[in-house]
Amino acid sequence: MIWVPRDAATGFPPTPHLLEVRDLEKAFVTRTAFRPVRRVVAAEGVSFRVDRGEAVALVGESGSGKSTIARLLLRLDQPDSGEIRLDGVDVLEREPRAASLAYRGRVQMIFQDPFGSLNPVRTVSEHLEPPLRRFGAGGGGLLRERALDLLRTVGLLPAEDFIDRLPFELSGGQRQRVAIARALAVQPDLLVADEPTSMLDVSIRTGVLNLLASLKRDRGLSILLITHDLAAARYLADRILVLYRGRVVEDGPSRALLESPAHPYTRALLASISGIGVAAPGGGRRRSAGEEHAATGCPFAPRCAEVLDACAASDPSSRVIAPGRRVRCHLYPEQDSALFVRRLA
Ligand SMILES: Nc1ncnc2c1ncn2[C@@H]1O[C@H](COP(=O)(O)OP(=O)(O)OP(=O)(O)O)[C@@H](O)[C@H]1O
Ligand code: SF4
Ligand SMILES: [Mg+2]
Repeated sequence: MIWVPRDAATGFPPTPHLLEVRDLEKAFVTRTAFRPVRRVVAAEGVSFRVDRGEAVALVGESGSGKSTIARLLLRLDQPDSGEIRLDGVDVLEREPRAASLAYRGRVQMIFQDPFGSLNPVRTVSEHLEPPLRRFGAGGGGLLRERALDLLRTVGLLPAEDFIDRLPFELSGGQRQRVAIARALAVQPDLLVADEPTSMLDVSIRTGVLNLLASLKRDRGLSILLITHDLAAARYLADRILVLYRGRVVEDGPSRALLESPAHPYTRALLASISGIGVAAPGGGRRRSAGEEHAATGCPFAPRCAEVLDACAASDPSSRVIAPGRRVRCHLYPEQDSALFVRRLA
């Protein structure tokens, strides 16, 4: 029998990952003349990892903190505490300016609104050539050739028909493909996609998801897919993290998590989309937007149909319920996740 050390935060063996996030915390404090000071915890103790060529989905309802986590990863916002490691190096500790360009080259983002993220007076080539030039793709004709290659990669064919168009001359799906091409121009290792299909017509969503899947498969691109759409997460992601009020309440391999969701909130989310038939926790009440959760105990308790006495008394810690699966809920026994015993034959 040997002891295999496990990472206390993630439950996985402590190997170097492309991206590792540990105990990320972010709260927003808003002050207005007519309202009392309001503090919203948008990320609390968020820990996860993304490996090379892996797609991880961050799912949760509106306001659960998905975009906040994306902005922290892109260094558009500063976390209150926690670590973001790329290839084992803590990116928050490095000198901001020098590290910033190199980091941005490796971690790129595409946004929900492809029209808003493109400059309306710039052509497609004017969107693609500056990042290509910045990241050393040469100049002149070579630059245009590389831009055309990018358009072919994202399925805008024939590329020559698209390269001189302005954003308003493209459909929503085509604009999102240009945004993806621009992100690819710097040859990133990780693409953070924040609701990349939610503003697109249903008929073209699948095309964009297929494109992301092919970039993952053929180029080994890692993807962090942020979505409230569990069907998209199921289609693209190897692993899913379920976020509730800024906290990861469950995570695990997509298939296992969707076939046997462990957290009552995950079950409720699944029940809310047609086509994935898991019974909702009966009687669970949906909290209204402004309603605060109880100061003690599990934050999901007011909506949970499986409440135990322990739920009001204490906030559940994260527990490992199977290899690579964690859940934050009193329905499952607590154990020391720092060490796992593996019996060798
Ligand atoms: N700059 C900010 N100032 C104050 N509060 C903020 C700010 N950004 C986000 N929040 C709050 O943090 C919480 C998480 O917001 P976030 O945008 O991360 O949610 P989300 O999961 O991306 O939601 P959606 O699915 O609607 O995009 C919300 O309560 C939001 O109101
Ligand atoms: S800890 Fe209790 S209240 Fe919270 S999700 Fe689990 S059963 Fe429901
Ligand atoms: Mg968002």
